[in-house]
Amino acid sequence: MKFSRRDFIATTAIGSASLALDLQGQTKPAASAAPSVHPPKKPVIICAANGYNYLERGYGVLSGGGDTLDAVMQVITGPEDDPNDDSVGLGGLPNEDCVVELDACCMHGPTRMAGSVAGVRDIKNVSLLAKTVMEHTGHVMLVGEGAQKFGFMMGFPKENLLTERSRKTWQLWRESMSNDDWWGPGLASPKFKFPDTAGNVSEYYDERIKRMEKLAERIGIEPEFRMAAIERVLNPPSGTIHCSAVNEKGEMSGATTTSGLAWKLAGRAGDSPIIGAGSYTDQDVGSAGATGNGEENIKVCGAHTIVENMRRGMSPQEAGMDVLKRIARNYEGHPEKLQYVDMSYYILRKDGAYAGVCMWSGPPEHLRRFAVNDGNGKRYENAVALYQGQSLGWPPMPGRKHLAPEQKK
Ligand code: GLY
Repeated sequence: MKFSRRDFIATTAIGSASLALDLQGQTKPAASAAPSVHPPKKPVIICAANGYNYLERGYGVLSGGGDTLDAVMQVITGPEDDPNDDSVGLGGLPNEDCVVELDACCMHGPTRMAGSVAGVRDIKNVSLLAKTVMEHTGHVMLVGEGAQKFGFMMGFPKENLLTERSRKTWQLWRESMSNDDWWGPGLASPKFKFPDTAGNVSEYYDERIKRMEKLAERIGIEPEFRMAAIERVLNPPSGTIHCSAVNEKGEMSGATTTSGLAWKLAGRAGDSPIIGAGSYTDQDVGSAGATGNGEENIKVCGAHTIVENMRRGMSPQEAGMDVLKRIARNYEGHPEKLQYVDMSYYILRKDGAYAGVCMWSGPPEHLRRFAVNDGNGKRYENAVALYQGQSLGWPPMPGRKHLAPEQKK
């Protein structure tokens, strides 16, 4: 069939006309109960506790009139560059093959753009790599080798991310826990079974720690880091950092970066690179992000759900609590499983109102905290917990209590 230039112009013109009509339909204001669109009097920046030392770098960018995503990057690249922070970037705890794989995502409110990378090896600042995907490609998400190749092409240096301390901690896990890995039915599976807790369980647990201390010494883990290494083996962390910021014009951004769950299967991506789970920013409403069990957060689209809750009129704290309850609802038949779920959200509304919420309060001497500066100086604040007490490490083992949690009234 012949298709002339005149036909093309005619078809395109009809297409454009109907598109214009559709768009007009869509631009009718949607019903929204967003409580306030007034920007804060002073910038506000909020992040996970491990960003505390870098909060002023971010606040400085905001007070100097800089871009909100640049401010966020100033905070989260701090732990990425720090070899002693084993939850992100350089020195992050590796996967089960002893390879560090990093994930990150970011959203820029003013332009409503987003970028993300997952499963990246040998590049430390994956938060900046996610921003580079956002700024220099027509894509939102790059993964694995493709993301790494893109990073090298864009000038990111190739670095060995595995520090000797993280490698030795991996070795302690591998030698002492190799039967208790991430294979097999997970917590959410109906086939999942708690281990047999018959016998003197606390004796078993003490013995196990003693054996691990000896092994840690043989491996050459520094004495002052030995208990911390054992803690990471018994309680594989899913450490991460999120940061959200708003300036005096009400412009917002947010980003999250992580080395993911320690000892994960190679290729596992958690919530941190997922726009809407690990981080979400809507310039009209607010910004939110997460640290904790990525698998649980993905299933409730945590950050997006929080922002949508605020759009419908909830306060930042109510919006976060609602999402924690959705995670709890996913285990309503098995509340004892919730002890293995650790989740925190960092929430900032466009008017500067903020909240930090968490599933478990932590022990009284070590309550779960977040860091914030709202113009009155940087500080830690305690997060509001859905449950009082401490989450337990994975995998479950004899010697640990499996109790149904009491919900805070
Ligand atoms: N929230 C980090 C992770 O699960 O990978």
